[in-house]
Amino acid sequence: MFTNQLKERIARLKEELKAVIVAHNYQRAEVQDIADFVGDSLELSRQCAEVDAETIIFCGVRFMAETAAIINPYRTVVLSEGSAGCPLADMINVDELREWKQRYPGASVVCYINSSAEIKAESEICCTSANSDKVVNSIANDDIIFIPDQNLGAYTATKTKKRLILYPGFCYVHHRLKPEQVKLAKQLHPEAQVLVHPECRPEVIALAEAALSTSQMLRYVKANSHNSFIIGTEEGLLHRLRLDNPDKSFYLVTNSQICTDMKKTTLETIVKTMELRQNIVTVPEEVRLKAKQAVDRMLAIS
Ligand code: 13P
Ligand code: SF4
Repeated sequence: MFTNQLKERIARLKEELKAVIVAHNYQRAEVQDIADFVGDSLELSRQCAEVDAETIIFCGVRFMAETAAIINPYRTVVLSEGSAGCPLADMINVDELREWKQRYPGASVVCYINSSAEIKAESEICCTSANSDKVVNSIANDDIIFIPDQNLGAYTATKTKKRLILYPGFCYVHHRLKPEQVKLAKQLHPEAQVLVHPECRPEVIALAEAALSTSQMLRYVKANSHNSFIIGTEEGLLHRLRLDNPDKSFYLVTNSQICTDMKKTTLETIVKTMELRQNIVTVPEEVRLKAKQAVDRMLAIS
């Protein structure tokens, strides 16, 4: 099918299913273009709590669709491509978390939203890269186990007086960016400001003007008088950066900033998923109720 035919088919299926399509900022340009809403993890969680639709088609990775299912028990949540996961979220399982809780009795657990429903259910509160400092500072306890991203944890530790115990997970897309690569990009584009995601290593963040979630980057660039930016996050964000700022220039630090799982969704996979009514994401009720507490606590303070 040609692109226009795929788009028409998606529009018809959307009506049939009374569906809304949401997409993460890392999705392919053509997927972002057909979505009703595009955003970062925090915005998508909020949006899913407010949508007026029977079905949510989530173009992203599994933990994101699971979060939508946790918040929306009476809507059908569908993941655009069933095999799209997040290797960072898969770096911790419930047994490992329970072992860490035993090792640090009395510490509170803050889990990054990039985690499974089971992990959320075992945590006190969730956070995203846009609100991790607010979340950590909202906790009365001084000792906090921060899971699973060590780099977001280390960055958050610079914004609080609390003692953060960091679980050693990482996102391969961000963790593989090296300071030497950022320095080289700065030599090539000396006029550009450097913006990186807090999932980058501390040595990379130290070289940047700011460490921001994906949507915070979009807002920063719009409000900033600078004309060029070196971007240290997944390449999908450049689509909206360029659409929103046609007169500004954007450069990636390297050409390896691609999340394979985010790119699994295409217009074809969306059509197939909707036509076959497949990839419905469900969370066992007992897990959902506990995980919802962690997500609700986060939404209440952000
Ligand atoms: P954001 O919440 O900043 O969109 O990040 C999500 C993510 O998966 C980062 O790799
Ligand atoms: Fe997970 Fe990294 Fe992909 Fe984000 S970019 S979904 S953290 S693997």
